Amino acid sequence: ANAAGLNLDDIQGDILIGMKKMKELFYFFGIADVASFKTKLATDILPLITTTTQMLDNSTQPITLLNIAFSQRGLDALNVSDSLGDSDFFNGQFEDAQNLGDPGTTNWVPEFTGTGIHGVLLFASDTVVNINDAVSSLESAMGNSMTKVYSLSGAARPAPNAGHEHFGFLDGISNPPVNGFTPSPLAGQSNVSAGEILVGEDGDFGTRPDWAKGGSFLVFRQLKQLVPEVRTSFGARMVGRWKSGAPVELSPLFDDPVLGADRSRNNDFTFAETTDQSGCPFGAHIRKTRPRIDLGTDDTGRHIMRAGIPYGPEVSTDEATENTTSTERGLAFVSYQSTIGNGFKFLQQTWANSQFFAHGQGPDPIIGALAGAERDITGLDPTDTTKTTKLTTDFVVSRGGEYFFSPPLSAISGKLSI
Ligand code: HEM
Repeated sequence: ANAAGLNLDDIQGDILIGMKKMKELFYFFGIADVASFKTKLATDILPLITTTTQMLDNSTQPITLLNIAFSQRGLDALNVSDSLGDSDFFNGQFEDAQNLGDPGTTNWVPEFTGTGIHGVLLFASDTVVNINDAVSSLESAMGNSMTKVYSLSGAARPAPNAGHEHFGFLDGISNPPVNGFTPSPLAGQSNVSAGEILVGEDGDFGTRPDWAKGGSFLVFRQLKQLVPEVRTSFGARMVGRWKSGAPVELSPLFDDPVLGADRSRNNDFTFAETTDQSGCPFGAHIRKTRPRIDLGTDDTGRHIMRAGIPYGPEVSTDEATENTTSTERGLAFVSYQSTIGNGFKFLQQTWANSQFFAHGQGPDPIIGALAGAERDITGLDPTDTTKTTKLTTDFVVSRGGEYFFSPPLSAISGKLSI
């Protein structure tokens, strides 16, 4: 254990650092033969799981990184009856579709509406060939003990857009630094309790079984982005950052790539720099999902660790000409938190979807869902910040997902495999 008692050899590597490779495969599986799966979980999967310690040192990283997480149905299949103390996890994401603002589940990937997903394997590497090799080798080791239900291949966008999501904006700039793990937070950031992200650690107020300590709930969402449809109307003021990552609160009228790339400055703002919407619009995505000083303090207990990756191809010439998506692309959204209802779900339901939160200037233009209803947002026009813009199309369409628990390695070798 380190100074704060975090056992970095026991915590899976995607949670606090993110596997951050050029390619990532989300392999959703069902458990077919429980006894055999349990044995192989300990003998064949456990040795391949990448820990946080390994993530900290490039020289100890395997060619292909692997993490694993289970749904409540997966725990049921493994005959693990302990409650993890999270009702959203217990009920599963399908039950939550309406709360999250999804306009029904007809857009959902069919596999996410069924009962067959017991867990997800996350493979990350520099190339698809490496990932395919790791998948075939694990599939042959697992034999008939598990079956593939669905998979989604994520990939960083090609240069010069690597690190940018499909609308073009640099992503992965702001994740919370964690007490006892992040030695020195960047300017504008302050540490959150380890227990906001990790189950059973200081600051987690849930009731958890001992074996779950150091684990985290993994929210997976397949979020389709309508890139050619919205290209013209989409802007930095909807995100709250320019494409380079420069915050509009600090650079309201033009992109500033030097600021965008400067880790010592690109998080150094509170939204108190401007009092109206001449800086960052009140409803911008980064302001909705992390209101900073808008709520009086950033210590809201509502932080998530994001570890998603884009999926799908670049926009083709035909798609660009016709302003119509023909091949799906989007964000394979992943967030970690110790309580789903304080993390992802709170951000989506209570903040992003709300017309009247904080300054009350409309839902989040990117992910705010009002179940198909028109969204009225102010602040998008920097020359007239009180003007209301009516957004009638969704830029992001939920294709569904699932709630998982990413257990500590000690639970993989212990509770879950015996
Ligand atoms: C930040 C895009 C979905 C929560 C960002 C940023 C971008 C972005 C470009 C700024 C870069 C950064 O700060 O790292 C998107 C897109 C989405 C999406 C395109 C969907 C396709 C979501 C969802 C949530 C979320 C579903 C949670 C419900 C956040 C948070 C931040 C963020 C918490 C950081 C805010 C901060 O600390 O300043 N997103 N996002 N995002 N997003 Fe999203």
